[in-house]
Amino acid sequence: HGTSSINAQGHLEIGGCDVTDLAKQYGTPLYIVDETLVRQRAREYVEAFRTSGLKFQVAYASKAFSTMAMCAIAEQEDMSLDVVSDGELYTALKAGFPAARIHFHGNNKTPDEINMALDANIGCFVVDNFIELQLLNALAGDKGKKVNVLLRVTPGVEAHTHDYISTGQQDSKFGFDVSNGAAFRAVQEAAGLANLELLGVHSHIGSQIFEVDGFQMAAGKVAQFAVNVRDELNVTFRVINLGGGFGIRYVEGDTPLPIATYVKAITDAIKSNFGEANYPLPEIWVEPGRSIVGDAGTTLYTIGTSKDIPGVRKYIAVDGGMTDNPRPALYESKYEAVIANRANQAADETVTVAGKCCESGDKLIIDCELSKPEVGDLLAVFCTGAYNYAMASNYNRIRRPSVVFVKDGQADLVVKRESLDDIVGNDVIPERMKRTS
Ligand code: LLP
Repeated sequence: HGTSSINAQGHLEIGGCDVTDLAKQYGTPLYIVDETLVRQRAREYVEAFRTSGLKFQVAYASKAFSTMAMCAIAEQEDMSLDVVSDGELYTALKAGFPAARIHFHGNNKTPDEINMALDANIGCFVVDNFIELQLLNALAGDKGKKVNVLLRVTPGVEAHTHDYISTGQQDSKFGFDVSNGAAFRAVQEAAGLANLELLGVHSHIGSQIFEVDGFQMAAGKVAQFAVNVRDELNVTFRVINLGGGFGIRYVEGDTPLPIATYVKAITDAIKSNFGEANYPLPEIWVEPGRSIVGDAGTTLYTIGTSKDIPGVRKYIAVDGGMTDNPRPALYESKYEAVIANRANQAADETVTVAGKCCESGDKLIIDCELSKPEVGDLLAVFCTGAYNYAMASNYNRIRRPSVVFVKDGQADLVVKRESLDDIVGNDVIPERMKRTS
């Protein structure tokens, strides 16, 4: 996995750091992010788009993993940034990320969020619905600003893991439907709003997708729509954003394509579809999240207890669980793991890795093959870079772990572990409930 290896002591090493040392220094659970791999994935995207000859932006979808250090890396790697809340926007701005490269998403941006983004002069709003279209136009007008917008459309291609469903009427909470005319009316309306500069359209077909055909289908539908809009409304799109969704390998059997292959497929699809229609080639924007950070992350836990139910199952319990990785409980997501302090030993036992939350469903890996786990061992779970820290909670008032970035044998703390005082930091006891004695 990633740039991980096994050192002479038989310990797992990531980014040149012995993870047993990291456990001693930072404690567990610990999110470890392989910075080299993050940068490599970002460069694979940027290089592949450069090769295509099209104008492009690779906007890192910060929902996958948003921290100030990650925003700094995204900037250094020439990426733009997709944010979906005031919190993600604030993180980016605090990190000094150039506002002109920030795109704001979401199906219910509040007036406060829109005003904050307008004040920051972000590069683009991805408008989701008719109410937002009017609200954004009005709020921009109040500030005497004209803002760039993309319209989020649902092109009728939806990815369900491996196969694609092409529907006339799509049931989605996001975007303007192409098939029922909503998208067409949205273009018409946006083109007439004085404070909006309509750049083009956006489509996102799903997440953890391995094949390119869904993206090719979406590119085709979007091109068809663009031509229709040009012919009927005399509006030309300069930008087509095809969203994120490219998958990664979590476990054996997951078969993602190289990033360059995927980028070539979609840039070729744009070139051919628009080329055939004699349409000026648009800029192509994408929004990868998982495929930038997913396989660069590893979570390190300490095994604290175990329970053997003879003939049924053996559980081992770690010092984290669904609070730092809700994905198995939410989506039945699969992960692989090793005993990090004996990574050189072959797996010889099948156990179920449980978390420490008061909930039976708090199992991280069912039937995990490990080298006979003992209490006190360190367990490393791979591919936890995306939607883990980002979706972590304080359920059971468990503290969110620290995050360290590792590179060339150096480890740097990028998020501190929450303290017990952080846990009660926003609590207030009303006066009338206070102890009097
Ligand atoms: N753009 C838009 C508009 C999106 O909705 C998403 C993800 C992305 C980009 C980034 O997609 P990615 O490249 O990461 O697949 N929590 C779920 C994933 C939710 C994805 C939501 N949207 C999980 O843990 O699998």
